[in-house]
Amino acid sequence: LSGLNVAVVGATGAVGQEFLKVLERRNFPVNRLRPLASERSAGKSVIFKNEPIPVEVLSEDSFKNIDLALFSAGGDVSRNFAPIAVKSGAIVVDNSSAFRMDENVPLIVPEVNSSVAKNHKGIIANPNCSTIQMVVALKPIYDISRITRIIVSTYQSVSGTGQSAMNELKNQVSAFVNGGESKPEVYPYPIAFNLIPQIDAFEETGFTKEEMKMVNETHKILDDYNISIAATAVRVPVFRAHSESVYIETEKKVVLRDVKEALASAKGIIVQDNPRSGLYPTPLEASGSDMCFVGRIREDLFVANGLHLWVVADNLLKGAALNAVQIAEIIF
Ligand SMILES: NC(=O)c1ccc[n+]([C@@H]2O[C@H](COP(=O)([O-])OP(=O)(O)OC[C@H]3O[C@@H](n4cnc5c(N)ncnc54)[C@H](OP(=O)(O)O)[C@@H]3O)[C@@H](O)[C@H]2O)c1
Repeated sequence: LSGLNVAVVGATGAVGQEFLKVLERRNFPVNRLRPLASERSAGKSVIFKNEPIPVEVLSEDSFKNIDLALFSAGGDVSRNFAPIAVKSGAIVVDNSSAFRMDENVPLIVPEVNSSVAKNHKGIIANPNCSTIQMVVALKPIYDISRITRIIVSTYQSVSGTGQSAMNELKNQVSAFVNGGESKPEVYPYPIAFNLIPQIDAFEETGFTKEEMKMVNETHKILDDYNISIAATAVRVPVFRAHSESVYIETEKKVVLRDVKEALASAKGIIVQDNPRSGLYPTPLEASGSDMCFVGRIREDLFVANGLHLWVVADNLLKGAALNAVQIAEIIF
C-alpha cells in the first residue's frame, strides 16, 4: 500500500489529537493528512510527524481525493458530512453515535467482530468507549460459554466528554486548592472531588442514553440480542481511562482458571490480577496504553455461574482513536 490520503474531522479535539499520534505511532500509510475542524480553528496548525499542518475548515469540498475519513467532531457533524465524504469516494470510520445502530453500518471492535467490517457500504462505526473495553474483556469468556446477564457500573474519566471537561476538572481542582471557587459549566455539578451518576440525558425508563448505548451496542457487536444488560454510568474526577465493575452470568458453569487463561492469551488484553500482592488495574496506570486491563477476576459467592471483573482502558485510545485506526487497518 503506497499511501492513503487521510482526513481527520475534529483534528483539534481530544480524540482528534490522539488520532494523529496513533496514525504516526502505528506507521499507518498516510500519503497526505488533511486536518479538519470548525471555523474556531481557522489559522491553527496541528503537528503530524513533527511537521505543522494547517487546519482546514470543514466544508462539502473537504473530501476530494480523500481515501479515509476519520470523524470525531460529534454526531451532527457526522450525520451531515459522512454521507458527503462517502459520495466523494472516501471510506468513513465514525467515532460518533450517529450511525452505530444503523443496520447498514458495521459496528466494529477488531478483537471481537472484525469479519463483519467488510460488509460496509462506506461508513463503519466505532462503538462507545465504555462498550469497547467491556466487549474486549467479555469476548474470550463468551467464547467459552454464552453470557446471559451483564450488570456493569462505569467510572468514566472526564476526557470522555472532551477537552472542555478536562479543563473544567483542572480548574476546579486548582481553585479548590487555592481556596477559591470554579463554577461547573460542562457538568451539572462540580466534578472535582465528586462523582456524577449521570452521563448524557435520562430516558423515560430511568436509564441514561450512555447506559443504553452499552446495552444496544453490546447486543449488536456480540450479535446476541438475548443478553440481559443493565448499566450505571458514572463520571469520576479522573482525567483519562475508564474503569468498569462488570458482573456477568454465563449459560454454562465456567472454570475460573480457564477464564483467566483465556483472558491472558486474548489479543489486546493484559491480565493484572494478583490482588494479594496489590496487582490490579488502575486508570492512571492504564493511561496512554493501547491495552485493555482486566483484574479482580472472581466467582460470585451466591450465584453458581456468576463472575466479577474489573476492566480498565484508555478511553481516548482503545475507546476511540486506536480502535478506529485498527478498523481502518482491517479495511485497507
Ligand atoms: N472522548 C472520548 O473518549 C470519545 C470516545 C469515543 C467517541 N467520542 C466522540 O468523538 C467526538 C469528539 O469527541 P472529543 O472528545 O474529541 O471532543 P472535543 O475535544 O470537544 O473536540 C471536538 C472536535 O470537533 C470539532 N468540531 C466541533 N464542531 C464542529 C463543526 N461544526 N465542524 C467541524 N468541526 C467541528 C472541534 O473543532 P474546533 O476545535 O474547531 O471547535 C474539535 O476538533 C464526539 O462525537 C464524541 O462522542 C469521544
